Amino acid sequence: MSIIDVIKNRRTIKAFKPDPIDEHQLLSWLEAASYAPNHKMTEPWEIVFIGPQTRAKLNHKTDFGGAPVVFAVISKQGLTPFQRDENVMASSCFVQNFLLSAHEAGVGVYWESMGAKPHNREMMNVPEDYDVIGVMGVGYPANDPAVKPRTPMAAKISYLS
Ligand SMILES: Cc1cc2nc3c(=O)[nH]c(=O)nc-3n(C[C@H](O)[C@H](O)[C@H](O)COP(=O)(O)O)c2cc1C
Repeated sequence: MSIIDVIKNRRTIKAFKPDPIDEHQLLSWLEAASYAPNHKMTEPWEIVFIGPQTRAKLNHKTDFGGAPVVFAVISKQGLTPFQRDENVMASSCFVQNFLLSAHEAGVGVYWESMGAKPHNREMMNVPEDYDVIGVMGVGYPANDPAVKPRTPMAAKISYLS
């Protein structure tokens, strides 16, 4: 697959087979993800693997679609509001790199926002000076959802003199 095919064919997966994910492969996708751009090399992302007890406490509506692996991506805030924003942007690039690396290997990801809620932050022991970028369910897709079409970029491009 070309990188453009990987980008265009990735989709959010919400139902997973129980098949386990190889730990070394998973780490290799996280290592690849860490090559994301990040201003001043803050490398703000950190991964928190969610074990069965914490997963049960999070009480997700579909239990992350039965994903065999669940982890949170958290992002260190930095020294200023500007750096906090930039760190969230860098951590989002990290996540996209991870999504694409996993997708290339036939593995799907469910990106859940619930981790940002105060109650769920508490369940995951997220330190005060970190943002939660998402809670990710990772596994082999149980189905093959259609790619959602995008607005042509011509509608979103403007030019300044
Ligand atoms: C920051 C962020 C948060 C998201 N949170 C959720 C979520 O809480 N629940 C959910 O079902 N999907 C969530 N998604 C996935 C989007 O719904 C999904 O990317 C979008 O529908 C486009 O579909 P695609 O990823 O298959 O292209 C999130 C995506 C991003 C980037």
